[in-house]
Amino acid sequence: MYKILEKKEIAMRNTWYKVHAPHVARKVQPGQFVIIRAFENGERIPLTPVMWDREDGWIVLVVFTRGRTTMRMAAELKEGDEILNIAGPLGNPVPMKKFGKILAIGAYTGIVEVFPIAKAWQELGNDVTTLNVTFEPMVVLKEELEGAVSRHIVEPVPIDPNLDFPANMRNVTKRLTEKVHEMLEKEGFDLVFMVGPAGDQRAVFNVVKEFGVPMKVDLHPIMVDGTGMCGACRVTVGGEVKFACIDGPEFDAYQVAWDELIARSGYYTDLEAKAMQEYMK
Ligand code: FES
Repeated sequence: MYKILEKKEIAMRNTWYKVHAPHVARKVQPGQFVIIRAFENGERIPLTPVMWDREDGWIVLVVFTRGRTTMRMAAELKEGDEILNIAGPLGNPVPMKKFGKILAIGAYTGIVEVFPIAKAWQELGNDVTTLNVTFEPMVVLKEELEGAVSRHIVEPVPIDPNLDFPANMRNVTKRLTEKVHEMLEKEGFDLVFMVGPAGDQRAVFNVVKEFGVPMKVDLHPIMVDGTGMCGACRVTVGGEVKFACIDGPEFDAYQVAWDELIARSGYYTDLEAKAMQEYMK
C-alpha cells in the first residue's frame, strides 16, 4: 500500500499526489512511468512521476481528472489514505545526452510528463525551452518549469462557453501549431520533443517536418498491463509493430504511423470529450 503524504488541487481538474513509493523513487528515471490502481477492482492508470526523492522514498503524481476513476480519486482519496498498487517504474528512460537547443512541448497535461525530462536535459547542459499550450484554468507546473529550464512559455487558451468541447480543443490545436510555427521560423532548434494527445502531436509534427527538425514524441495509447503482455498499446513505428510500454514510450515522430495511432484511439476520444464536457457544465 502506498500512503498519500500530500494531496492538493493545483489547477482545474489537476490533482497533485505526493505518495510514499520507495521502490519507484529509488529507481525511476526521466521518461519512465508507473501504472497505479487506486481502488479494489478499479482500472489501471498509467502516470508519470513528476518528481521524486530517492532517500525519502516519495514520488509526485499529477492526475488529470478525465474519467470515473480519476474523478473518484479526486473526490474520495485524502491525505493519509493509501493507493492500492503502484507498478513500476515501467518503460524506457529518455536518452540523457547533449542534443543542443531543445523545444519540449506539453499540450494540456502533457507538460507534467515533459517536466522531469526537460529538467534533466537542462541539467545535462542542453538549452531547453518548454512550451505549454492548454486551457487557461489548467496551467500547471509553471513556477517549477521556470526554475528548471532556460525558458518556459505558457500559451493559455480561454475556454469559450459558446463552443462545444471539441471546438474548444480545436482552438488549442490552432494555438499550438501557430506558436510552434512562429518559434521555428524565428529560431533554430536541434530537437523538438512533445507529449500530448496523438492528434495534437501529429498536427505539431506536420509543422516541424516542414522545417526538417528532428522530433521525438512520447506516445500514450491505451495501456493495460504495462509489461508487453496484453498488446493494448500496440503502435506501428518504422513499419514495425511496437508496444509503447516496453519499446517506448518515446519514439521518432518521423517513423510513427500517425493515422493508425489516431484511428485506434479515436473511439475513446468522443467518450472522453463527452465525459469532460458533462463535467465542465
Ligand atoms: Fe499491454 Fe503495453 S500495455 S502491451
